[in-house]
Amino acid sequence: MTSPTVDQAPIGPVDLAAEREAVGPALEEKMIECLRSGAYVLGPEVKAFEAEFATYQRTAHALGVASGTDALILGLRALGVGVGDGVVTSAYTFFASAGTIAWIGARPQLVDVDYDTGLITPEACAAALDETTKCVLPVHLYGQLADVMGFRALADEAGVGLLEDAAQAHGAERDGKRAGEVGDATAFSFYPTKNLGAPGDAGAVLTPSDDVAARLRELRDHGSREKYRHDSVGTNSRLASLQACALRTKLPHLDAWNDRRAAIAARYDERFAGSDKVRPLTRHEGTRHVYHQYSVRLPAELRDAAAERLREQSIFAAVHYPSPVHHQPVAAEWGYGPDAFPNAARLSTEILCLPVHPFLTDEQADRVSEALLGALEA
Ligand SMILES: Cc1ncc(COP(=O)(O)O)c(C=O)c1O
Repeated sequence: MTSPTVDQAPIGPVDLAAEREAVGPALEEKMIECLRSGAYVLGPEVKAFEAEFATYQRTAHALGVASGTDALILGLRALGVGVGDGVVTSAYTFFASAGTIAWIGARPQLVDVDYDTGLITPEACAAALDETTKCVLPVHLYGQLADVMGFRALADEAGVGLLEDAAQAHGAERDGKRAGEVGDATAFSFYPTKNLGAPGDAGAVLTPSDDVAARLRELRDHGSREKYRHDSVGTNSRLASLQACALRTKLPHLDAWNDRRAAIAARYDERFAGSDKVRPLTRHEGTRHVYHQYSVRLPAELRDAAAERLREQSIFAAVHYPSPVHHQPVAAEWGYGPDAFPNAARLSTEILCLPVHPFLTDEQADRVSEALLGALEA
C-alpha cells in the first residue's frame, strides 16, 4: 500500500495535533507543573485564567465551569430563570442552546433565524415574547455575533434577562462589543474543537455584574460561599485546574488563530464569488467574525452528494446542523410542528461547513474550494 501523496492528505474540520505543536512545549510544561502543584479544582490557575479571559472578552467577571452546557444552565439560573418560565432562543443551533432551557424546567420559546445569516434577530424575538418570558438567549452562530446592542435594548424594554450563547464566538466583535460585554451573562464552551479549546470539557460564564458573578460563584459550588454553609441549591460545576492551565497557555495565540481563520475565509470568498451555487452566509458590516465555521449554502438537492464527493477526496466538510431544533423528536413536547420555522428547516438542508482552522494552508484551502466547485459541476 502506498502512503497518500500531499495532494490526497486528509483535510479535516480541525487539526488538534498541529494546534498542540504550535503552542510548543509550553502547554505540556504548564500542565505538568499544575499536576505537581496538587491543586486540581479551581485554585490559582483557574483564578488567573478567569481574570485573563474576562479581560480578553472585555468584561468584569469570568467564572470557570465544567462545560458550555453548564455555562448555559448556570447562566439561566443566575438570571432567575426557573420552572415554567419562557426563554426565547434560536430554532437553528446546537441542541444545548434550547435543551438547557428545558433541562431546568423552563420552556424554550423558539424563533426562526434570518435565512441570510443564520442568526436570530431582536425583531423576531420581540414578536415571540409573552408574559411568561424571563430571558432572551441569542446564539452567536458560527463565530458571528448576533445584534447584541439590539438584544440589549429589547431585554431592557421588556424587563427580561439577556443570556448570550457565545460557545462559537471567542474574540468575535460587533459594533465594537465582544461577547460578554453586553449580556447579563454569557456562556462560553472550551470543548476541544472550539476556537479556544481545552484538552477536555470546560466552559465559563461571563458577566459585567458583581451580583450575577456572586450568584454564579455560589451556583457552581453547591450554593456555597463558605465551606459547609449552603445559602442556595447549586451543583458541582467547577473548572478543573488542568483545563485552566491549558487554556491560559493557548489564550495568547487566539487573536492570531482567529486572524488566520479570517484569511482562509477571505480566500474561500474570493473563489466562490463567481459561483451561483455556492452562497456563503452573509456577514454584517462592522463585525469581527471569528469563523468557528465557514458555512455556505448549496442547492439542497446537491448538498449531500457534494459532501460525499469531497469525502472521496479526503476532504471532510460537516453539516452543522442536519436538522433544526424543532425537528428533534423531543421538540414535539414543546409544541412546535415541523413547519414552524421555515428558514431553520431550509438551512438544515443547504448548509455545508468547509474546513477552516488556523493550520489549514492556502494550498489546502484551494484544494477544498476547487473540489467543491468541481463536485457541483459534475
Ligand atoms: C452553540 C453552542 N451552545 C452550547 C454548546 C455546548 O457546549 P459544551 O459542548 O461545552 O457543553 C455548544 C458546543 O458544541 C455550542 O456549539
